[in-house]
This record gives sequence, C-alpha cells and structure tokens, in this order.
Amino acid sequence: MPVSPTIEFASFADIAAAGPAARGDEGASALIVLAGDNVAFGPQTQRLVAPAAQAIERAARAAKFKGKAGAALDILAPQGLGWDRLIVLGVAPKKDDSAAEPFDFTNLGGQAMGKLAGAARVAVMFEPPAGADAAAAADFALGAALRAYKFDLYRTKKKDDSDKDTTVALTIATADAAAARAAHGPRAGLADGVNLARNLVNEPPNVLYPEEFANRAKELEKLGVSVEILDVKAMTELGMGALLGVGQGSIRESRVVIMRWNGAASPDQPVAFVGKGVCFDTGGISIKPAASMEDMKGDMAGAACVVGLMHALAARKAKVNAIGAIGLVENMPDGAAQRPGDIVRSMSGQTIEIINTDAEGRLVLADVLWYVQDKYKPRFMVDLATLTGAIMVALGQEYAGLFSNNDELSERLSKAGQATGEKVWRLPLSSGYDKMIDSKFADMKNTGGRYGGSITAAQFLQRYVEKTPWAHLDIAGTGMGSPSSEVNQSWASGWGVRLLDRLVKDYYEG
Ligand code: BES
Ligand code: MN
Ligand code: ZN
Repeated sequence: MPVSPTIEFASFADIAAAGPAARGDEGASALIVLAGDNVAFGPQTQRLVAPAAQAIERAARAAKFKGKAGAALDILAPQGLGWDRLIVLGVAPKKDDSAAEPFDFTNLGGQAMGKLAGAARVAVMFEPPAGADAAAAADFALGAALRAYKFDLYRTKKKDDSDKDTTVALTIATADAAAARAAHGPRAGLADGVNLARNLVNEPPNVLYPEEFANRAKELEKLGVSVEILDVKAMTELGMGALLGVGQGSIRESRVVIMRWNGAASPDQPVAFVGKGVCFDTGGISIKPAASMEDMKGDMAGAACVVGLMHALAARKAKVNAIGAIGLVENMPDGAAQRPGDIVRSMSGQTIEIINTDAEGRLVLADVLWYVQDKYKPRFMVDLATLTGAIMVALGQEYAGLFSNNDELSERLSKAGQATGEKVWRLPLSSGYDKMIDSKFADMKNTGGRYGGSITAAQFLQRYVEKTPWAHLDIAGTGMGSPSSEVNQSWASGWGVRLLDRLVKDYYEG
C-alpha cells in the first residue's frame, strides 16, 4: 500500500560520520540541506557540504536559486560529495509572507519527500539558518509521512519506474535528536490517522459499503477505543427514521458506529465528532446525472475523518474523552427506495417531508446528532459532511464552510485551521434562512430552494441541536478532489483530521 518512509532522528555528527550508504539495487542516496537567504547554510551544514561548495555555487547561479521558501536546487552527483544527489531546500521567508504566519515546516517536509522519487536512503541536515526547535523537526517528518501517501491497492501494474516501491529510509539530523524523537511520536499517530481517512475515502464503493466501513472502524479497538455498532434493528428501536429512510433503497444495510476514547484522567463530559458516511450517493430516486457520479464514493469523507481523528487521538493517547459517531448508509434508487413526498419521523420526534432524495446527508446527520446529544451530553459537537455542492460555489476548494451556534467554538476552529492549513470560513445561520425549510405537510422539508443551499442545509441540522455548542463543517470541496498540495497528492485529502486533532490539543486536553 502506501510507500511509508521509515523515519529516524540523529545528531548532525552522525550524518557526517555515516555518509551515504545506498548503492546499486538499493536505489540512490540523497542528502537534503536547508538554505536561507542567498544560499546561506547553518554552521554544521556549511561544514558538511564544504567539499561541494563550488558545485553548489554554480548550480545556484545557473538555476537562479536564492534560498527562498518554496524553491529548491537538485544537484545530481555533486562533485566533492559522496551522495548521489544533493537537494538544497530554500527556507528564507518570501516577501509576501506575513509575520503572523510562521514558516511551515510540515509543508517543507512534504516538499522534500516530493523530490525523492527513486531515492532509497535519505539524510536531512535539519538546520535552518534562522534556528528551529524539536517540534519543527517533527513537523518536517509529519509532512514527509503525509506526502509519501499513495493509494495503489488496486493496481496490478506499475505505471513507471518512479512509481516503484522504494521504501525510503529517512534520517533527520537535528540539534536535539531525543527531543525531536519525542515530538515525533504523537505526530506519527496523527499521520497514520490522516492516511487511514484517505484510505477509506479512496476505497471503491463496491468494497466499502456500510457494514464493511463499520468493520474498519471496529479495528480501532486495537488502540483502546471502544466501538459500538448499531444495526438496522437497533436503529429502528431508537426511532432513527430519517437515517433509515435514506438507506432503505439499498441491499446494503445501514449502520451507525459509536467510537469512544477515554483519555482524560477524570470522567469528564466528552467532546463529540459526528460524520456523514454516505458510502455511495446516487441521489436516490432524485437521481444524479452520470457525469462524475463515481466521485460520490467519497460522500463518506466526513465519517472517514472522524475515524481517522479517533485513530490519531488514541494513538497519541490524547488526554481527552472523545466520542466519534458516524452514520453509514448507501443512497440508491430501487423499488424500496424512499420517494419525494414521503414523510419520515426522526429520532427527535420531528417529522420531515422529503422533497429531494439527493439531500440525504442532512437526514443521516439529523439522527446521529440527536442520538449523540441525547445520550452523551457532550461539551460540544462538531459534524463533518460532504453536504452540498453549493459550498464549492461559495468557497471553492480552499476553505471548508463553517456554521455554528457558538462564537468561541468557531473562533477556536478558525485558529486551528490557520495553524494546520485546513482552513474554515464561517457562514451565517439565521431565522430567515430557517423559514425556507418549513413544510406544508410536516415539521420541515429536506431542501430549501435554489438560493443559499449550504446555509439551508445547515439550518436543517440546527433543528436537531438543542443547547449544545455545535459546529458544522461542509467539506464537499475540501474532502476529495481538491488541488494537490505539498502534503497531499491523493484524491482523498484526509481533510479535517489535522484540524480537529489540533482543536483538541490546543483547547480540550489536560
Ligand atoms: N453528496 C452531495 C453533495 C456533494 C456534491 C458532495 C458534490 C461532493 C461533491 C449531497 O448529498 C447532495 O447531493 N446535495 C445536493 C443537495 C440538493 C439536492 C439540495 C446538492 O448539493 O446538489
Ligand atoms: Mn446527495
Ligand atoms: Zn450526499
């Protein structure tokens, strides 16, 4: 599966002493160094690359490389050094970098990993001329682990040579290897959580249907997460008519999965995360057009994020009590499928007139949100859902939409977004929008008309939230098919795992 690099930390002296080792069949060796303004190196790096000073100077001049962040110099067989490649990464801040956004070492690690196709043994002199702490070195390693992800489980032929399964052994030399190693531990769990979420989203829908998705979530028990699976009978008894209505046209049975991680010292109220897990969304009887319908295998990206997050929290033994709850269904057209005009009763008791069977995500979330709020009385609930195409019209694929009944939670999510690069932008909720989903025949209808589609979807969810602080993230634009980045080249981005891990870490642990 993914070509995960083995990552180790060492001292600067170790790299100098060991030198390049890989040869021949093993693949090439590469040395990565960091350069500041005008290709200035830190003292240890300067000493190590001194024998190749001329080669570096000529290459830098030829490539007009000045050491700016984002730029890189790749020198093959550098004269004077034993390494097969010398890669110089610029780390000097660009002019347009605002002081409020410090240099991002996670992206730098991703950038470095992106240059390593074919290299087997890689050493990094992690010595930014401006200095950096152990956390920065661990951030670099996180970026490398995220960038290395590939999903080629279903390829039986390799595309080309650069695609071959070289396992990269990455050694990162830092001023304090022990501290970097300690900082790396939790980030390794985080990287695994992100890559797990990506796997779930990339899996084809004939493989990953609700029951199989629930089985994958069940594997979190190995990390100490308790996992409870509600089947159709249990959900019927609970009265989850909104969720069950969506799944009734599929031969694949619906499931709800509740994951619990109890990492806090005291039996504190948990924080809760809820995910939309529509394993495939055809639209149902209000069927979608054929073009790009295959992308709707990713309509469970919210649920995948929640599973990835629970993995990350458990793997790094986060000091928090957390609930992860996901609603898993398949939305299919069929003789047994729900119709436009049907009226269903949600677990909350509120009735819903189905106008469009393609507005199914909100129906699934309505019952899961209600169940979590009612049963666990959480400190807050954050839901994630690939809920509306309209969110891409509003925000493109850069920011996820944020809707909330709570300013503090919104503020914290925005800050965690800035810190991780998984950014959110708040959009309004208000009674005028809420009126748009009033129904002639039931308590509400499941669509609100042409305008403000992401907002009326959020208003619908809000009708299932009482006093609990709540935030809804519409990730239709960011969860899949978003532009590739230094830390992600995969269709499935794993969006939200880093954001919510950071939210927990910065505000709800201890
Ligand atoms: N899963 C879709 C939203 C979606 C669209 C996600 C494209 C990712 C990419 C959702 O279930 C849906 O179909 N929403 C409808 C709502 C409409 C019928 C009110 C939409 O956005 O068109
Ligand atoms: Mn839909
Ligand atoms: Zn959907």
